[in-house]
Amino acid sequence: MGGSAVASAVERVERGVRRFGIAASLARVASLAWTAACRACYLRERHLWYALDLRIARPAAVMPGGFELRRAGPADIALLQDLPTIGLHEAQARHRAGADLWLVLDDGAPAFACWIFRERTPVLAARGGWLPLPPATACLEDSVAAPAYRGRGLAAAAWSAIAGDLARGGMTSIVTKVREDNAASRRAVEKAGFEPTALMSLTRLAMRAHVDVSPYRDNALFAFLEEVLSR
Ligand SMILES: CC(C)(COP(=O)(O)OP(=O)(O)OC[C@H]1O[C@@H](n2cnc3c(N)ncnc32)[C@H](O)[C@@H]1OP(=O)(O)O)[C@@H](O)C(=O)NCCC(=O)NCCS
Repeated sequence: MGGSAVASAVERVERGVRRFGIAASLARVASLAWTAACRACYLRERHLWYALDLRIARPAAVMPGGFELRRAGPADIALLQDLPTIGLHEAQARHRAGADLWLVLDDGAPAFACWIFRERTPVLAARGGWLPLPPATACLEDSVAAPAYRGRGLAAAAWSAIAGDLARGGMTSIVTKVREDNAASRRAVEKAGFEPTALMSLTRLAMRAHVDVSPYRDNALFAFLEEVLSR
């Protein structure tokens, strides 16, 4: 665990003690520790990689009235605490390292957030935990809508505007990975024009990882992922 991960864990524990009390928080910490120990011994995950080609026409989803999409500055990062997503320390570290945080706000309150990575992106299945990205390719990560705002199309509207911004900045595609069993997220990215390109499965037994990448159809992203990730 790196320094920012430890800080995030401490931050989550402090938040838990404030909300649920010490006994319930200790039980939760023990349960999380057990889950983490089990994950370290055995882990199996399947993700679909999706790609959005920015060089061709794509669906243009419009932001519902009253919502504002904003690229977050340092002062906005604390707003993430109101969403079920990564902790503040990890978010600050990501932002300092150059990742973009985008927020959809409802009268100043966070309704949706997502991250855009360039050059490299965090991927558990990748060696060292980071996947280098192909040229002119951005990666969309950790999209999350606040539970009360789900099902209103905020994600697609935000991705649509972000895609326009990245295209104007010279990017030619956006990739993103979604857990195979995450139906709501798969539905949302497909409505926004992302196409499934590869299925990645990670099996980790003790500390040995096996990564398999299979194509949805032959394409350049699949070939790249297979070369970089398979082992
Ligand atoms: C994935 C996510 C960001 C989509 O955001 P969104 O703005 O709700 O997206 P949409 O409004 O387009 O809804 C997408 C699908 O979610 C499902 N959905 C609708 N209302 C929902 C609700 N209240 N709760 C959960 N899912 C709902 C529907 O299948 C919907 O598709 P449909 O509109 O064609 O029926 C959001 O569901 C979320 O935050 N999920 C939890 C975090 C997560 O899984 N992130 C993705 C990591 S890859």
